[in-house]
Amino acid sequence: MTKMFDLARIDAAAEALGRPIAEAEGLPGAFYGADFYALEQQRLFPTSWCAVAVGQAIPNPGDMLPIDVAGWPILIVRNRDGGIAAFHNICRHRGIRLVAGACNTPRIRCPWHSWTYGLDGALLATPELGGAGVSQVEGFDKASLGLKPIPVGRWLDLVFVNIDGMAPPFADYIAPVEALFADHDLADLRYGMPIVDEYAGNWKIAMEGGIEDYHLTFAHPELEAHLFRNSTPCVALGSYTGVATEVAAEGAAPDQLAWTARLPPLKTRAGAPLPYLHALTIFPTGTILIAADHVMLGTLLPDGPTRTRVDIHLYFDGEAASDPALADARTGTLAMWHTVLPQDMPFIAAAQAAAGVRDAAGIATRFSPYWEAGVRGFQQMVLDAVR
Ligand code: FES
Ligand SMILES: [Fe+2]
Repeated sequence: MTKMFDLARIDAAAEALGRPIAEAEGLPGAFYGADFYALEQQRLFPTSWCAVAVGQAIPNPGDMLPIDVAGWPILIVRNRDGGIAAFHNICRHRGIRLVAGACNTPRIRCPWHSWTYGLDGALLATPELGGAGVSQVEGFDKASLGLKPIPVGRWLDLVFVNIDGMAPPFADYIAPVEALFADHDLADLRYGMPIVDEYAGNWKIAMEGGIEDYHLTFAHPELEAHLFRNSTPCVALGSYTGVATEVAAEGAAPDQLAWTARLPPLKTRAGAPLPYLHALTIFPTGTILIAADHVMLGTLLPDGPTRTRVDIHLYFDGEAASDPALADARTGTLAMWHTVLPQDMPFIAAAQAAAGVRDAAGIATRFSPYWEAGVRGFQQMVLDAVR
């Protein structure tokens, strides 16, 4: 049972978070618990443009995928024309969750009383609505009872939804991200493979763990972090937050690319290898990593207050995605991430475990002024969204 979160704590947390970063304090532990999560369910997730999937999750017309966005059941559908639509995954009859699992179907039939919807959400059939063998009833307006649509935005292969339909236009929301990568040639990204995982921590703890380079040399030796020690915070409040890192640090051999690059490098529009790699949250739920030779796009979605579903997908540049000669390099990249990502799990679980008691112990979290401005920016965006 959740109770109303004490809103006065939000102003106090914002003040402590906004101090000069060497003195700033991170969000209190209570902000990673059930009461604050209930506030986020009302104020943060429905009002934002939330990344919820990649388009490759539903590649073919008629593909559909139900997604739980912090308790909001939504459905994304690939249209006949190749577009993507989203709906509340709730039947207009008696309100059950309509589609239970990923499927491909030309029509969506509710299992309870067989109300049937088209891929465009229109209510097509209401069998026996007026009695045995009678599907039409005078005055019953089927045209107004289609699935409730949700606005959709797309960038690269990420699919975003705005559940309450009241957010500023998607083009405005995504513009800072587009500007950040304006000189990147990402026009021929091709799908590689998925990485799916689950973290035993609040979605914010999971996200914070992925947008700082501070822990890399200590927690992920496989990432060769000694090659890229020049990290710059990358923060655009309201849009994205994370880090940009020089791909090859001073002193490294000219052909020595960081991030264990195995494939032909991604390029700028001018044809040069990318000078920086980026690891960012596209706030609140999107995650993007642009490495020297591959891209990761995905989502971190809450599964209740203390668990996070991680759904990340690898992409490669053009032929690098399919060239048989590079098969081992692709497999090696996937294997590296299968080694590295689980290494974060014990830290996320341990941070979550202490979140419930550290306020009572008088312990506030702190930031590295060099490495963690992106984490602070993420926390500021959370507070801005719920205030
Ligand atoms: S609840 Fe869906 S048809 Fe009755
Ligand atoms: Fe990590």
